Amino acid sequence: MDNNSLNKNQFRTHMCGELTGENSGQMVVLSGWVARVRDLGELQFLVIRDRTGKTQVVADPGSEIANAMKTLSHEDVIRINGLVRYRPGDMLNRDMKTGEIEVLADKIEVLSHSKLPPLGVEDKDDISEEQRLRYRYLDLRRPNMIRNLELRHRALQATRRFHEECGFMEVETPFFIRSTPEGARDFIVPSRVHKGEFYALPQSPQIYKQALMVGGVDRYFQLTRCFRDEDLRSDRQPEFTQIDLEMSFVTEEDVYSHSEGMLVRLVKETLGADIEPEFPRISYQNALDQYGSDAPDMRFEMKLFRADDQFKESAFKAFASVVLKGGSVVGMCGKGKGTLSRKQREKLEVAAREVGLAGLLSVPVTDQGLTGIIGKLFSEDQQRTLIENATAEVGDLMMFAAGDLDLVSTAMGKLRRTFAKDWSLVPDGMLSFCWVVTPPLFEKVSEGEGLTAVHHPFTMPVDEDIHLLETEPLNVKSRAYDIVLNGVEIASGSIRIHNPELQERVLNVIGIDSAEAKHRFGFLLEALSYGAPPHGGVALGFDRIVMLLAGEKSIRDVIAFPKTNLAASLMDGAPSSVDSEQLSELGLKLIESSEKA
Ligand code: AMO
Repeated sequence: MDNNSLNKNQFRTHMCGELTGENSGQMVVLSGWVARVRDLGELQFLVIRDRTGKTQVVADPGSEIANAMKTLSHEDVIRINGLVRYRPGDMLNRDMKTGEIEVLADKIEVLSHSKLPPLGVEDKDDISEEQRLRYRYLDLRRPNMIRNLELRHRALQATRRFHEECGFMEVETPFFIRSTPEGARDFIVPSRVHKGEFYALPQSPQIYKQALMVGGVDRYFQLTRCFRDEDLRSDRQPEFTQIDLEMSFVTEEDVYSHSEGMLVRLVKETLGADIEPEFPRISYQNALDQYGSDAPDMRFEMKLFRADDQFKESAFKAFASVVLKGGSVVGMCGKGKGTLSRKQREKLEVAAREVGLAGLLSVPVTDQGLTGIIGKLFSEDQQRTLIENATAEVGDLMMFAAGDLDLVSTAMGKLRRTFAKDWSLVPDGMLSFCWVVTPPLFEKVSEGEGLTAVHHPFTMPVDEDIHLLETEPLNVKSRAYDIVLNGVEIASGSIRIHNPELQERVLNVIGIDSAEAKHRFGFLLEALSYGAPPHGGVALGFDRIVMLLAGEKSIRDVIAFPKTNLAASLMDGAPSSVDSEQLSELGLKLIESSEKA
């Protein structure tokens, strides 16, 4: 926080994190919370804290002030007046900005008392998350949380400035809307005026931003809240923030360079760091093949590879039979891990079972060739091709698993990440961005028959695949793209369909016939029929970006008031029941649990 005039008033002349040796000799006023009180007999001192940091405050032994200090408790709010002076040599603390000074108090006032706090603001990590969320206002006083909120604030402002400079217009879109198809369940809001009817909270502003393009807005962005009723985890919240944007008269390249420019700026203005101005691109299919994930973590190598041909004709029947039945063998190579003991290799196998694999064949490459079962069953030639295919060297450990290609690749992708962590292959502090491009337009629905859109149904198919829409829909690629940072999907977008007939055809493929299309998206189809410009855009998961920039593991740590994994707000007790009058005003009646069954 700048030392601006707003911060100079009767409560303070300086912030608690700001005084240095240069202020020595000055009379100052500080206000803040009691972070520590110490009675060392000879010496009475306390530490006062605010958002910017801490200052040590001392009192002359035996003085009235020293006695007053003794009555203070942690988290009391106080104002002190005093003289800044250098600390005695043995008390210097070079790790703190204010570590070379202390304030000799000549007045202390208690502005507000604190009860014994249920969680220690000064404690590091030994507090349960439940306590932290229940008493979030105390948790927010912790320096780490303040730092995260500041970083988030800087990222928000940098995003706004960047878009303003690029000629984008921030337009707010409504929260009470008709459902949008982003693939999750909607949160719905009953209408009192239209009994029996409901609004949906937006899963994203998708349809509105497309309507804005039809409306000629041309360059739109919005920092907006999205709402999705889905299973939660460390990078998912029921309400989260997107940097949402849409551009008219653009191709993928324009969206890529705009997004890259924004992220370069965002990293610079939050961390002061420079990142590569262009992100590498990988096709969706290559991401699955080489990383076993559509969100590849490129901070380390250890790519996956196929070894079907090497095992198909081999005497290692367990794998050969899988390949002959249409399955695959997927491998990866741990550099320098050929020296792991049998016990350590058994642990790898336990990890493999935890990610759903039947087992993991690990084969050390030694200067005498391959040992163990593969050494016995593979001819010298076969061994050589196995090693070459894995681009392995003496000292490495080749690892293989067999089964259904999709399942094995995904599981090996998970193992790749687990082993990289265990083997410290992930460089500290690295930010590795990439684009994952041209995924298929459709995929099979996870349960039952039929197809669904991989991104969303407004995504444009690639030109040369449009003729396959009805005949080979699963082979149609889309003009969609994701941004992945350190193995986390931080953004998703696409070039959109701007032709109503093509839009109807795509909806038909996912089982939405013309009548239903008119019912659910009639307004969009109609809008597209009044001269829609070619357009495309992207939405960035803002909480996830801030989480990764802050080096946190959960987005809950970068959101001021997040929900638990069960979508509850522990501080204010949401969700809560409402009284029956409120329900009947809305024309609603709760089903008793016995009736539910
Ligand atoms: P999508 O659904 O992929 O695309 O969302 C875009 C990005 O939002 C973030 N995200 C989330 N973050 C936290 N909690 C969640 N529950 C959550 N769900 C998604 C992710 C994701 O990459 N309308 C399209 C975008 C477009 O096509 O322009 C959309 O919302 O980082």
